[in-house]
Amino acid sequence: MHAGEVHKGVGGPVATPVVQTSTFTFESVEEMKRWAEGRSKADIYTRYGNPTLRVAEAKLAALEGAEAALVTASGMAAIASTLLTLAGAGDEIIATRQLYGGSYRLMRDYLPRFGIRVRYVENDLKGVEQLVTARTRALYTETPTNPTLRIVDLRRAAALAGRFKLVAVVDNTFATPVLQRPLELGFDLVCHSATKYLGGHSDIIAGAVAGRRALVEKIRQTVIHLGGSLDPWAGYLLIRGIKSLEPRVRRQAETALRVARFLERHPKVARVHYPGLRSHPDHRLARRQMDGFGAMLAFDHKGGLAGARRFCQRIRVFLLAASLGGVESLAVLPIYTSHYKMSAKELADAGVAPGTVRLSIGLEDPVDLIADLKQALA
Ligand SMILES: Cc1ncc(COP(=O)(O)O)c(C=O)c1O
Repeated sequence: MHAGEVHKGVGGPVATPVVQTSTFTFESVEEMKRWAEGRSKADIYTRYGNPTLRVAEAKLAALEGAEAALVTASGMAAIASTLLTLAGAGDEIIATRQLYGGSYRLMRDYLPRFGIRVRYVENDLKGVEQLVTARTRALYTETPTNPTLRIVDLRRAAALAGRFKLVAVVDNTFATPVLQRPLELGFDLVCHSATKYLGGHSDIIAGAVAGRRALVEKIRQTVIHLGGSLDPWAGYLLIRGIKSLEPRVRRQAETALRVARFLERHPKVARVHYPGLRSHPDHRLARRQMDGFGAMLAFDHKGGLAGARRFCQRIRVFLLAASLGGVESLAVLPIYTSHYKMSAKELADAGVAPGTVRLSIGLEDPVDLIADLKQALA
Protein backbone atom coordinates (compact mmCIF):
# COMPACT_ATOMS: atom_id res chain seq x y z
CA MET A 1 0.00 0.00 0.00
CA HIS A 2 2.61 2.53 1.08
CA ALA A 3 5.86 1.44 -0.58
CA GLY A 4 7.36 4.16 -2.75
CA GLU A 5 4.86 6.85 -1.70
CA VAL A 6 6.04 10.14 -0.25
CA HIS A 7 3.37 11.31 2.21
CA LYS A 8 4.45 14.44 3.98
CA GLY A 9 3.28 17.80 5.12
CA VAL A 10 -0.11 19.46 5.35
CA GLY A 11 -2.23 19.15 2.25
CA GLY A 12 -0.13 16.46 0.58
CA PRO A 13 -1.97 14.13 -1.76
CA VAL A 14 -2.86 10.63 -0.56
CA ALA A 15 -3.14 9.29 -4.11
CA THR A 16 0.06 9.09 -6.15
CA PRO A 17 0.52 12.16 -8.38
CA VAL A 18 0.71 11.36 -12.10
CA VAL A 19 3.74 13.11 -13.50
CA GLN A 20 2.39 13.11 -17.04
CA THR A 21 5.31 14.61 -18.88
CA SER A 22 7.63 13.35 -21.56
CA THR A 23 10.52 15.56 -20.47
CA PHE A 24 11.92 17.47 -17.47
CA THR A 25 13.66 20.81 -17.11
CA PHE A 26 17.29 21.16 -16.09
CA GLU A 27 18.10 23.86 -13.60
CA SER A 28 21.28 24.83 -15.42
CA VAL A 29 23.70 23.83 -18.13
CA GLU A 30 26.00 22.69 -15.37
CA GLU A 31 23.34 20.23 -14.20
CA MET A 32 22.91 18.99 -17.78
CA LYS A 33 26.64 18.31 -17.85
CA ARG A 34 26.50 16.54 -14.50
CA TRP A 35 23.77 14.28 -15.85
CA ALA A 36 25.81 13.48 -18.96
CA GLU A 37 28.73 12.54 -16.74
CA GLY A 38 26.54 10.23 -14.64
CA ARG A 39 26.86 12.47 -11.58
CA SER A 40 23.19 13.48 -11.39
CA LYS A 41 20.22 11.16 -10.92
CA ALA A 42 17.75 13.83 -12.08
CA ASP A 43 14.88 12.81 -14.34
CA ILE A 44 15.50 14.13 -17.81
CA TYR A 45 13.12 12.19 -20.06
CA THR A 46 10.33 9.72 -19.23
CA ARG A 47 11.72 6.90 -21.38
CA TYR A 48 14.68 6.95 -18.95
CA GLY A 49 12.64 7.32 -15.77
CA ASN A 50 9.71 9.10 -14.16
CA PRO A 51 8.63 9.75 -10.53
CA THR A 52 5.24 8.02 -10.94
CA LEU A 53 6.86 4.94 -12.43
CA ARG A 54 9.34 4.80 -9.54
CA VAL A 55 6.43 4.49 -7.11
CA ALA A 56 5.08 1.51 -9.08
CA GLU A 57 8.57 -0.01 -9.09
CA ALA A 58 8.97 0.38 -5.33
CA LYS A 59 5.63 -1.37 -4.79
CA LEU A 60 6.57 -4.24 -7.07
CA ALA A 61 9.93 -4.67 -5.39
CA ALA A 62 8.20 -4.73 -1.98
CA LEU A 63 5.65 -7.30 -3.16
CA GLU A 64 8.22 -9.65 -4.67
CA GLY A 65 10.76 -9.15 -1.90
CA ALA A 66 13.19 -7.84 -4.53
CA GLU A 67 16.13 -5.46 -4.28
CA ALA A 68 14.78 -3.58 -7.29
CA ALA A 69 12.02 -3.60 -9.89
CA LEU A 70 11.38 -2.06 -13.27
CA VAL A 71 8.10 -1.38 -15.07
CA THR A 72 7.74 -1.71 -18.83
CA ALA A 73 5.23 -0.99 -21.59
CA SER A 74 3.96 -4.60 -21.67
CA GLY A 75 4.68 -8.04 -20.30
CA MET A 76 6.36 -8.91 -23.60
CA ALA A 77 8.60 -5.82 -23.30
CA ALA A 78 9.64 -7.09 -19.86
CA ILE A 79 10.34 -10.63 -21.07
CA ALA A 80 12.04 -9.65 -24.33
CA SER A 81 14.21 -7.00 -22.67
CA THR A 82 15.19 -9.46 -19.94
CA LEU A 83 16.22 -12.20 -22.35
CA LEU A 84 18.02 -9.78 -24.68
CA THR A 85 19.97 -8.49 -21.69
CA LEU A 86 20.97 -11.93 -20.47
CA ALA A 87 21.90 -13.45 -23.83
CA GLY A 88 23.58 -12.27 -27.02
CA ALA A 89 24.71 -13.84 -30.30
CA GLY A 90 26.15 -17.29 -29.69
CA ASP A 91 24.47 -17.68 -26.29
CA GLU A 92 21.80 -20.17 -25.29
CA ILE A 93 18.77 -20.17 -23.04
CA ILE A 94 17.03 -23.22 -21.60
CA ALA A 95 13.27 -22.83 -21.23
CA THR A 96 10.41 -25.01 -20.08
CA ARG A 97 8.26 -25.81 -23.08
CA GLN A 98 4.80 -24.85 -21.80
CA LEU A 99 4.89 -21.08 -22.03
CA TYR A 100 2.48 -18.26 -22.80
CA GLY A 101 2.17 -18.27 -26.62
CA GLY A 102 3.80 -14.85 -26.99
CA SER A 103 6.86 -15.85 -24.95
CA TYR A 104 7.14 -19.05 -26.97
CA ARG A 105 6.93 -17.10 -30.25
CA LEU A 106 9.62 -14.68 -29.04
CA MET A 107 11.89 -17.67 -28.43
CA ARG A 108 10.91 -19.57 -31.58
CA ASP A 109 10.83 -16.69 -34.10
CA TYR A 110 12.87 -13.74 -32.80
CA LEU A 111 15.69 -14.74 -30.46
CA PRO A 112 17.25 -16.99 -33.16
CA ARG A 113 17.45 -13.90 -35.43
CA PHE A 114 19.85 -12.42 -32.89
CA GLY A 115 21.85 -15.64 -32.73
CA ILE A 116 20.33 -16.79 -29.45
CA ARG A 117 19.44 -20.47 -29.32
CA VAL A 118 16.62 -21.67 -27.08
CA ARG A 119 16.50 -25.28 -25.93
CA TYR A 120 13.46 -26.74 -24.24
CA VAL A 121 12.77 -29.08 -21.35
CA GLU A 122 9.48 -30.34 -19.99
CA ASN A 123 7.91 -28.86 -16.84
CA ASP A 124 9.62 -31.53 -14.70
CA LEU A 125 13.00 -29.99 -15.74
CA LYS A 126 14.42 -33.40 -16.64
CA GLY A 127 17.46 -33.16 -18.86
CA VAL A 128 18.57 -29.61 -17.99
CA GLU A 129 21.99 -30.99 -17.01
CA GLN A 130 22.49 -32.51 -20.47
CA LEU A 131 21.48 -29.31 -22.29
CA VAL A 132 23.76 -26.89 -20.44
CA THR A 133 26.78 -25.73 -22.44
CA ALA A 134 29.47 -23.13 -21.77
CA ARG A 135 27.21 -20.64 -23.61
CA THR A 136 24.02 -21.25 -21.63
CA ARG A 137 23.08 -18.03 -19.83
CA ALA A 138 19.59 -18.43 -18.38
CA LEU A 139 16.93 -20.86 -17.27
CA TYR A 140 13.49 -19.49 -18.10
CA THR A 141 10.20 -20.84 -16.83
CA GLU A 142 6.57 -20.00 -16.13
CA THR A 143 4.31 -21.40 -13.41
CA PRO A 144 1.39 -22.00 -13.28
CA THR A 145 1.52 -22.42 -17.04
CA ASN A 146 -0.86 -20.88 -19.51
CA PRO A 147 -3.43 -22.36 -20.19
CA THR A 148 -3.26 -25.78 -18.50
CA LEU A 149 -2.03 -24.62 -15.10
CA ARG A 150 0.83 -27.08 -14.78
CA ILE A 151 3.29 -26.31 -11.97
CA VAL A 152 7.07 -26.11 -12.24
CA ASP A 153 9.08 -26.84 -9.09
CA LEU A 154 10.72 -23.46 -8.49
CA ARG A 155 13.09 -24.64 -5.77
CA ARG A 156 14.42 -27.32 -8.06
CA ALA A 157 14.70 -24.91 -10.98
CA ALA A 158 16.61 -22.38 -8.85
CA ALA A 159 18.95 -25.09 -7.57
CA LEU A 160 19.69 -26.27 -11.12
CA ALA A 161 20.29 -22.72 -12.28
CA GLY A 162 22.60 -22.12 -9.31
CA ARG A 163 24.57 -25.26 -10.01
CA PHE A 164 25.33 -24.20 -13.59
CA LYS A 165 25.56 -20.44 -12.88
CA LEU A 166 22.53 -19.64 -15.04
CA VAL A 167 20.30 -16.67 -14.31
CA ALA A 168 16.96 -18.09 -13.17
CA VAL A 169 13.96 -16.19 -14.59
CA VAL A 170 10.28 -16.96 -14.03
CA ASP A 171 7.07 -15.47 -15.37
CA ASN A 172 4.98 -15.02 -12.21
CA THR A 173 1.95 -13.52 -13.96
CA PHE A 174 -0.59 -16.23 -13.11
CA ALA A 175 0.36 -16.61 -9.45
CA THR A 176 1.15 -12.98 -8.58
CA PRO A 177 3.42 -12.24 -5.60
CA VAL A 178 0.38 -12.75 -3.37
CA LEU A 179 0.47 -16.51 -3.99
CA GLN A 180 4.07 -17.15 -4.98
CA ARG A 181 7.36 -15.33 -4.37
CA PRO A 182 10.02 -17.00 -6.51
CA LEU A 183 12.87 -14.78 -5.31
CA GLU A 184 12.44 -16.30 -1.83
CA LEU A 185 12.90 -19.71 -3.45
CA GLY A 186 16.22 -18.74 -5.04
CA PHE A 187 15.21 -17.16 -8.36
CA ASP A 188 17.18 -14.19 -9.69
CA LEU A 189 14.44 -12.46 -11.68
CA VAL A 190 10.66 -12.43 -11.86
CA CYS A 191 8.79 -11.13 -14.93
CA HIS A 192 5.15 -10.08 -15.09
CA SER A 193 2.50 -9.15 -17.51
CA ALA A 194 1.26 -6.35 -15.22
CA THR A 195 -1.62 -6.07 -17.68
CA LYS A 196 -3.16 -8.92 -15.71
CA TYR A 197 -3.64 -9.16 -11.91
CA LEU A 198 -1.26 -6.35 -10.96
CA GLY A 199 -3.24 -3.82 -13.01
CA GLY A 200 -6.31 -5.89 -12.30
CA HIS A 201 -8.98 -3.93 -14.21
CA SER A 202 -8.38 -4.79 -17.89
CA ASP A 203 -7.52 -1.18 -18.66
CA ILE A 204 -3.74 -1.08 -19.16
CA ILE A 205 -0.95 -2.92 -20.96
CA ALA A 206 2.11 -3.06 -18.71
CA GLY A 207 4.95 -5.31 -17.64
CA ALA A 208 7.45 -5.64 -14.82
CA VAL A 209 10.75 -7.24 -13.88
CA ALA A 210 11.90 -7.63 -10.26
CA GLY A 211 15.00 -9.15 -8.72
CA ARG A 212 18.67 -8.52 -8.02
CA ARG A 213 19.48 -4.84 -8.40
CA ALA A 214 22.49 -5.27 -10.67
CA LEU A 215 20.47 -7.38 -13.11
CA VAL A 216 17.40 -5.13 -13.00
CA GLU A 217 19.53 -2.06 -13.73
CA LYS A 218 21.12 -3.79 -16.74
CA ILE A 219 17.65 -4.70 -18.02
CA ARG A 220 16.56 -1.09 -17.47
CA GLN A 221 19.23 0.02 -19.94
CA THR A 222 17.87 -2.45 -22.51
CA VAL A 223 14.31 -1.19 -21.96
CA ILE A 224 15.48 2.41 -22.36
CA HIS A 225 17.29 1.68 -25.60
CA LEU A 226 14.74 -0.67 -27.14
CA GLY A 227 11.97 1.73 -26.15
CA GLY A 228 9.79 -0.42 -23.93
CA SER A 229 9.21 2.19 -21.19
CA LEU A 230 5.78 2.53 -19.58
CA ASP A 231 3.63 5.64 -19.90
CA PRO A 232 3.11 7.46 -16.54
CA TRP A 233 -0.69 7.38 -16.77
CA ALA A 234 -0.60 3.60 -17.19
CA GLY A 235 1.88 3.60 -14.30
CA TYR A 236 -0.68 5.40 -12.16
CA LEU A 237 -3.38 2.84 -13.03
CA LEU A 238 -0.91 0.08 -12.22
CA ILE A 239 -0.25 1.63 -8.78
CA ARG A 240 -3.98 1.92 -8.19
CA GLY A 241 -4.44 -1.74 -9.15
CA ILE A 242 -1.59 -2.93 -6.95
CA LYS A 243 -3.20 -1.33 -3.89
CA SER A 244 -6.10 -3.81 -4.02
CA LEU A 245 -4.11 -6.77 -5.40
CA GLU A 246 -4.15 -8.97 -2.32
CA PRO A 247 -7.88 -9.04 -1.53
CA ARG A 248 -8.75 -9.31 -5.23
CA VAL A 249 -6.48 -12.28 -5.81
CA ARG A 250 -7.64 -14.08 -2.67
CA ARG A 251 -11.35 -13.63 -3.41
CA GLN A 252 -10.90 -14.51 -7.11
CA ALA A 253 -9.00 -17.67 -6.13
CA GLU A 254 -11.75 -18.69 -3.68
CA THR A 255 -14.33 -18.33 -6.43
CA ALA A 256 -12.10 -20.24 -8.88
CA LEU A 257 -11.99 -23.22 -6.53
CA ARG A 258 -15.81 -23.22 -6.33
CA VAL A 259 -16.06 -22.99 -10.12
CA ALA A 260 -13.48 -25.77 -10.59
CA ARG A 261 -15.39 -28.06 -8.24
CA PHE A 262 -18.64 -27.34 -10.09
CA LEU A 263 -17.05 -28.07 -13.47
CA GLU A 264 -15.40 -31.24 -12.24
CA ARG A 265 -18.83 -32.73 -11.50
CA HIS A 266 -20.44 -31.58 -14.74
CA PRO A 267 -21.26 -34.37 -17.25
CA LYS A 268 -20.20 -32.28 -20.28
CA VAL A 269 -16.73 -31.59 -18.89
CA ALA A 270 -14.01 -34.13 -19.72
CA ARG A 271 -11.30 -32.58 -17.55
CA VAL A 272 -10.69 -29.56 -15.36
CA HIS A 273 -7.22 -28.01 -15.19
CA TYR A 274 -6.98 -26.32 -11.79
CA PRO A 275 -4.07 -26.92 -9.39
CA GLY A 276 -6.42 -26.62 -6.40
CA LEU A 277 -8.18 -29.88 -7.33
CA ARG A 278 -6.84 -33.16 -6.02
CA SER A 279 -7.25 -34.56 -9.54
CA HIS A 280 -4.65 -32.09 -10.89
CA PRO A 281 -1.33 -33.83 -11.56
CA ASP A 282 0.65 -31.12 -9.74
CA HIS A 283 -1.74 -30.53 -6.83
CA ARG A 284 0.78 -31.50 -4.14
CA LEU A 285 3.55 -29.41 -5.61
CA ALA A 286 1.18 -26.44 -5.93
CA ARG A 287 0.17 -26.87 -2.29
CA ARG A 288 3.82 -26.82 -1.23
CA GLN A 289 4.94 -23.97 -3.44
CA MET A 290 1.99 -21.59 -3.53
CA ASP A 291 -0.08 -19.84 -0.90
CA GLY A 292 -3.36 -20.54 -2.75
CA PHE A 293 -4.04 -21.81 -6.26
CA GLY A 294 -4.95 -18.72 -8.21
CA ALA A 295 -7.96 -17.68 -10.24
CA MET A 296 -7.12 -19.15 -13.65
CA LEU A 297 -8.53 -22.46 -14.77
CA ALA A 298 -9.25 -24.36 -17.95
CA PHE A 299 -11.51 -27.24 -18.87
CA ASP A 300 -11.82 -29.62 -21.79
CA HIS A 301 -15.34 -29.79 -23.21
CA LYS A 302 -16.51 -33.34 -23.90
CA GLY A 303 -18.01 -32.09 -27.17
CA GLY A 304 -14.52 -31.06 -28.45
CA LEU A 305 -14.16 -27.88 -30.48
CA ALA A 306 -17.86 -27.80 -31.46
CA GLY A 307 -18.93 -28.13 -27.82
CA ALA A 308 -16.42 -25.50 -26.66
CA ARG A 309 -17.58 -23.10 -29.38
CA ARG A 310 -21.23 -23.60 -28.39
CA PHE A 311 -20.33 -22.95 -24.75
CA CYS A 312 -18.47 -19.74 -25.62
CA GLN A 313 -21.36 -18.55 -27.77
CA ARG A 314 -23.81 -18.97 -24.88
CA ILE A 315 -21.99 -17.46 -21.89
CA ARG A 316 -23.46 -14.18 -20.65
CA VAL A 317 -21.78 -13.15 -17.39
CA PHE A 318 -18.34 -14.34 -18.56
CA LEU A 319 -17.13 -12.12 -21.39
CA LEU A 320 -15.63 -13.70 -24.48
CA ALA A 321 -12.24 -11.99 -24.42
CA ALA A 322 -8.52 -12.68 -24.39
CA SER A 323 -6.32 -11.63 -21.44
CA LEU A 324 -6.95 -12.41 -17.79
CA GLY A 325 -6.53 -11.24 -14.24
CA GLY A 326 -9.13 -8.47 -14.27
CA VAL A 327 -12.22 -8.06 -12.11
CA GLU A 328 -14.52 -9.28 -14.92
CA SER A 329 -14.58 -13.02 -15.62
CA LEU A 330 -13.41 -13.91 -19.12
CA ALA A 331 -13.51 -17.01 -21.32
CA VAL A 332 -11.42 -17.86 -24.39
CA LEU A 333 -10.55 -20.76 -26.64
CA PRO A 334 -6.72 -20.97 -26.48
CA ILE A 335 -6.55 -22.47 -30.00
CA TYR A 336 -7.94 -19.18 -31.34
CA THR A 337 -6.07 -16.83 -28.98
CA SER A 338 -2.79 -17.46 -27.12
CA HIS A 339 -2.10 -20.61 -29.17
CA TYR A 340 -3.37 -19.52 -32.61
CA LYS A 341 -1.65 -20.96 -35.71
CA MET A 342 0.27 -23.57 -33.74
CA SER A 343 0.96 -27.02 -35.16
CA ALA A 344 -0.74 -30.13 -33.75
CA LYS A 345 2.55 -31.03 -32.06
CA GLU A 346 2.94 -27.59 -30.52
CA LEU A 347 -0.63 -27.75 -29.21
CA ALA A 348 -0.05 -31.22 -27.77
CA ASP A 349 3.18 -30.03 -26.12
CA ALA A 350 1.25 -27.14 -24.58
CA GLY A 351 -1.50 -29.51 -23.39
CA VAL A 352 -4.11 -27.60 -25.40
CA ALA A 353 -6.99 -29.61 -26.90
CA PRO A 354 -9.38 -28.16 -29.52
CA GLY A 355 -12.11 -28.24 -26.86
CA THR A 356 -10.02 -26.54 -24.15
CA VAL A 357 -11.71 -23.44 -22.72
CA ARG A 358 -9.72 -21.10 -20.48
CA LEU A 359 -11.50 -19.14 -17.78
CA SER A 360 -10.21 -16.14 -15.86
CA ILE A 361 -12.30 -15.78 -12.73
CA GLY A 362 -13.18 -12.23 -11.73
CA LEU A 363 -14.90 -10.61 -8.78
CA GLU A 364 -18.52 -11.33 -9.65
CA ASP A 365 -20.71 -13.25 -7.24
CA PRO A 366 -19.69 -16.94 -7.52
CA VAL A 367 -23.38 -17.90 -7.62
CA ASP A 368 -23.87 -15.83 -10.78
CA LEU A 369 -20.76 -17.30 -12.41
CA ILE A 370 -21.77 -20.90 -11.69
CA ALA A 371 -25.32 -20.25 -12.91
CA ASP A 372 -23.85 -18.85 -16.13
CA LEU A 373 -21.62 -21.88 -16.64
CA LYS A 374 -24.58 -24.16 -15.97
CA GLN A 375 -26.79 -22.53 -18.60
CA ALA A 376 -23.95 -22.29 -21.14
CA LEU A 377 -23.13 -26.00 -20.76
CA ALA A 378 -26.79 -27.11 -20.80
C1 LIG B 1 1.73 -15.61 -18.62
C2 LIG B 1 1.85 -14.41 -19.51
N1 LIG B 1 3.05 -13.83 -19.66
C3 LIG B 1 3.22 -12.76 -20.46
C4 LIG B 1 2.18 -12.24 -21.18
C5 LIG B 1 2.43 -11.06 -22.08
O1 LIG B 1 1.99 -9.89 -21.47
P1 LIG B 1 1.52 -8.56 -22.23
O2 LIG B 1 0.31 -8.93 -23.03
O3 LIG B 1 1.27 -7.60 -21.13
O4 LIG B 1 2.64 -8.16 -23.13
C6 LIG B 1 0.91 -12.79 -21.05
C7 LIG B 1 -0.21 -12.22 -21.82
O5 LIG B 1 -1.24 -12.79 -22.00
C8 LIG B 1 0.74 -13.92 -20.21
O6 LIG B 1 -0.45 -14.51 -20.06
